[in-house]
Amino acid sequence: MGKYKIVVIGQLNKDLMNQLEQKCEIKVWSSPQKIPRDTLLSWLSDAEGFISRGDVVVNGELLSKAPKLRVIAQASVGYDNVDIDACMSRSIPFGNTPEVLNEATADLIYGLLISSARRIHEGFEYVKDGKWESPFNIPMGVDLYEKTLGIIGMGNIGRRVAVRAQASGMNILYHNRKESVANNELNCKYETFENVLKQSDFIIVLVPLSNQTKKLFKKTEFEIMKQTAYFINASRGAVVDTNALYQALVNKEIAYAALDVTDPEPIQSDHPILKLNNILITPHIGSATTETRYKMGQLTVENLLAGLESKKMPSCVNK
Ligand code: DGY
Repeated sequence: MGKYKIVVIGQLNKDLMNQLEQKCEIKVWSSPQKIPRDTLLSWLSDAEGFISRGDVVVNGELLSKAPKLRVIAQASVGYDNVDIDACMSRSIPFGNTPEVLNEATADLIYGLLISSARRIHEGFEYVKDGKWESPFNIPMGVDLYEKTLGIIGMGNIGRRVAVRAQASGMNILYHNRKESVANNELNCKYETFENVLKQSDFIIVLVPLSNQTKKLFKKTEFEIMKQTAYFINASRGAVVDTNALYQALVNKEIAYAALDVTDPEPIQSDHPILKLNNILITPHIGSATTETRYKMGQLTVENLLAGLESKKMPSCVNK
């Protein structure tokens, strides 16, 4: 039997590529830059399998140019770049990589929380800038202990963040579309969206991006938060109206924002929000550890090969 023709966008570890090469003939785009659409569509014209990436829009137009495509896999838990209905209409399974990134992503989110509350990155700038002239002239932070953490979108990653926050002695509120029993087991309290925003000292956003969550955080949402609130977004940038967040930070309607995701993404280095001193931004590194990215790559390869061989995929969104 001949090899499966596949297209791979992104970098996979050598041994994972070797696994694929045994069964597949591969066209690979390993550059961090976006693949030109024309190139991608021509590569997909005879492909049976496709490893996509978050910067590729997988829609009906793309599928119409890929008549032989039978499976798509992507190394991410989020798949807002993929039109799942369009995949369904072609019976193409789409595989993602949940679970394997929970701990790494929760660590990063908790790192953002601690770093902003305790002004760790500012502290380093302070030392480098030669401002550390006296032990009594230092950046002051705020406690996590006995503070309220609000999690909007309490899924697998949210639960791992909750465990870390409880170790710091925080009280936890959360809001989901529906109350979850599992979350009660963690001793977190379900509240309405508005009450979580009103009552929390720290708010972490973990909702997937969809038509319902696009610009979920606008002027009104920042207005109802505490003026001392810390706002942390590690889901997708477009869940937040960047201009409204900028205004809220400038007008001190909230105290601070820490973002691992932005809209647009990447954010331009001259964006006015980067000039503020009450913001911390990291470049979408939630799952970016060597071990976790390897596991994500591995699951992606397993998903793809299972789909090509018409077997059950280990993680399929539209089964
Ligand atoms: C994910 O897995 O969705 C991360 O945000 C990386 O895109």
